[in-house]
Amino acid sequence: MIQKAIDILKKSRSLFVLTGAGISAESGIPTFRDADGLWKNYSATDLATPDAFRKDPALVWEWYHWRQDIIRCAQPNTAHQALVAMENRMESFLLLTQNVDNLHQRAGSRNILELHGSIFRARCLNCRATYAYGIEKMPDTVSPPTCPCGGILRPDVVWFGEMIPQDIWHAALAFCATADTVLICGTSGVVWPAAALPGYAQEHGSTIIEINLEPTPASNVVDVAIKGRAGKILPALVENL
Ligand code: APR
Repeated sequence: MIQKAIDILKKSRSLFVLTGAGISAESGIPTFRDADGLWKNYSATDLATPDAFRKDPALVWEWYHWRQDIIRCAQPNTAHQALVAMENRMESFLLLTQNVDNLHQRAGSRNILELHGSIFRARCLNCRATYAYGIEKMPDTVSPPTCPCGGILRPDVVWFGEMIPQDIWHAALAFCATADTVLICGTSGVVWPAAALPGYAQEHGSTIIEINLEPTPASNVVDVAIKGRAGKILPALVENL
């Protein structure tokens, strides 16, 4: 399987990459649907919703501050680095990530779009202004942060049931439609609209490679499904290009 993926990538001039939480797992950041994703017995799906924030904004912020602390201390891993090397080799390259952790950028990826926002930004519910937020450790506080306009700030991420940024989505689709190869890595492939990308790429004639610890709904659609750790498989691909 790895050799087949290497052969495909060697022939590729344009590469579209979709990543999810699995690519940051080896940096010590809990994924959303694996067993380590629980916080105080809440799952991400309990807390990452507009409803949860309406009911208890302080609780949701407490969870985000916990995640920010973990992410701030984390380092990009060999999978993030291998994608930088792939970007450098390709004539054209776009990385679409569902992650909000900034680790691709810290590793050095340049042509990257964040589909679900950034954990290090906050947005005012009232005036919609956005702010860099949480890059430095936040003081422990029980009340949610506020904007100078008096509005409550929320994390500038996309929650379940919310619209994704349409400009980013359309830019990703446009690139994906013309890419020779699509590489999907570390995503369970159950969250829309990213879950639509394997089928979309197939319809547009791309060759698709998937790297994941376990089979996903995309595994039946892709040309090559490699089961394994992103931090091991991606460097093995890059070394042989
Ligand atoms: N290497 C490769 N794959 C891995 C690794 C690893 N080291 N560790 C875990 N995985 C796989 C898991 O097997 C799982 O299939 O990564 C996938 C992670 O899936 P999710 O936790 O569902 O994360 P993701 O697909 O990114 O979730 C999508 O859902 O909660 C929302 O907005 C949140 O962006 C997130 C979106």
